[in-house]
Amino acid sequence: MSDNQHLEHMEHDRGTWGSNFGFLMAAVGSAVGLGNIWGFPYKMGNKGGFAFLIIYLLLVIFVGVVVMLGELTIGRKTGKGAVGAYAALSKKYKWVGYLGILSAFTLLAFYNVLGGLVMRYMFGFLLQILGVDGFSGAGMGFFGYILYDYSGMIFFHVLFIVCNVVIVMGGIQGGIEKFCTVAMPALFFMLLFVIIYVAFQPGAGEGYKFMLTPNFEPLSSFGGFIDVLKTAAGQMFFSLSLGMGAIISYGSYLDKKEDLQKNALIIPACDTLIAVMAACAILPACAAFNMEYAQGPGLLFNTMQNVFLSMGSFGNFVGFMFYFLVFIAAVTSSISLFEAIVTWRLDVGIEKKQKVSRTKIMSIAAVCSFIVGIPVALDALGAADAVVKAPYLLLGMTPEQLAAGQVPMAIDCWLDFFDVISEGIFMPLGALIMAVLIGWKWKTRNLIVPECEISGHKFWGYTFFDICFKFITPIGMILVLGGQIYDFFIKALIA
Ligand code: TRP
Repeated sequence: MSDNQHLEHMEHDRGTWGSNFGFLMAAVGSAVGLGNIWGFPYKMGNKGGFAFLIIYLLLVIFVGVVVMLGELTIGRKTGKGAVGAYAALSKKYKWVGYLGILSAFTLLAFYNVLGGLVMRYMFGFLLQILGVDGFSGAGMGFFGYILYDYSGMIFFHVLFIVCNVVIVMGGIQGGIEKFCTVAMPALFFMLLFVIIYVAFQPGAGEGYKFMLTPNFEPLSSFGGFIDVLKTAAGQMFFSLSLGMGAIISYGSYLDKKEDLQKNALIIPACDTLIAVMAACAILPACAAFNMEYAQGPGLLFNTMQNVFLSMGSFGNFVGFMFYFLVFIAAVTSSISLFEAIVTWRLDVGIEKKQKVSRTKIMSIAAVCSFIVGIPVALDALGAADAVVKAPYLLLGMTPEQLAAGQVPMAIDCWLDFFDVISEGIFMPLGALIMAVLIGWKWKTRNLIVPECEISGHKFWGYTFFDICFKFITPIGMILVLGGQIYDFFIKALIA
């Protein structure tokens, strides 16, 4: 076999996307996740409504699209996942790739547990439709019940991971692409259905008002403006799956004839559309049934469940559909996190000319992610009487200090701990380093432009992208990083 044939053979082993549409569905699937459904609606409502939306959109354009293009280009140019890609561009920066792998595990630690909970609620509403009590007699108080049902928590944690294993084992085209091509359009139509149904509930109007009334008050002071800016930036980052290498992996399977710049626009556009649609379903539903616009897990598992249970018998059906679409959003995101890990090990095997089995790698990744997720599943969101103690309790702080707001968010429960180190530190850091390397070391002109033009498309907006890589993204990331470290670690200590 000539060298060339050998190379081709190896590339074939890695797999490629079957079509650009399939790639887009997978990438949009990675982006659209729990972040869109529980983060965006609440933050938008709370941080100025329409004003928040404008700032969010500006950030998507000036930072999101740019970092997206950077990750896609690095992936496709090197044909490798995050670790291999940074190593191929410069041996010295291989560790940036490892930072991405670390983020993947910290994200999975809580994402899998939440995905499992979503499945539990989905089955609950399915049983309700069949006329069986799906919520173990706890009905509207189910969230408080399930958190202490440890075997249930572990069972659904495992079940969600198994779904991931089945999809990722199928490979790029036969697993991830096939699943996302069906699941993402299905998600869109189910969400549309829920929006329309909610719109006809009396009292829904208050929700739209809460969401859309331009309230510039949060922006009236400099401190307020920075607060909105960093909330929107953190949200944008998490929502677009940037800063840890998932998009680098997906880009590495992309054909050279595809237009990278176009893809870097479409993915953020779809993600933002779904986030706004989710807000249009959730906030009016809360308003119509007089539920609070809670934050985080409470919104998804307490408030929304109670909204559907208050709707009467048809509510069971809408509830099932809602949790089913949230399940799709979650699983299409978690498979991209697993794929970032799998691609890394596949590349190592290919480089060492070893026989590598995707199934074996994925199984090991699944077990590891299960283990790191155990404390998240068993600490009852930081309750003092749970079997697994939350980090603040282990560190000797008390529930009284927690109630007084003196416990930093980073340690109030294991979910927040993993969320904060990934979303608050690793991911903005990853994006900061990438933008600086592209802007100042590898250069937009030498790295990005030639790879984008391979497809035969002329590169547009050079000055814009170059300025964003060099200045706007790094400055934005430093603001986010500083803001998050203050919010998540320091604020409570000086309170
Ligand atoms: N984008 C996902 C969401 O909105 C979460 C996420 C963050 C993610 N970073 C990621 C998913 C990296 C895949 C890869 O919920």
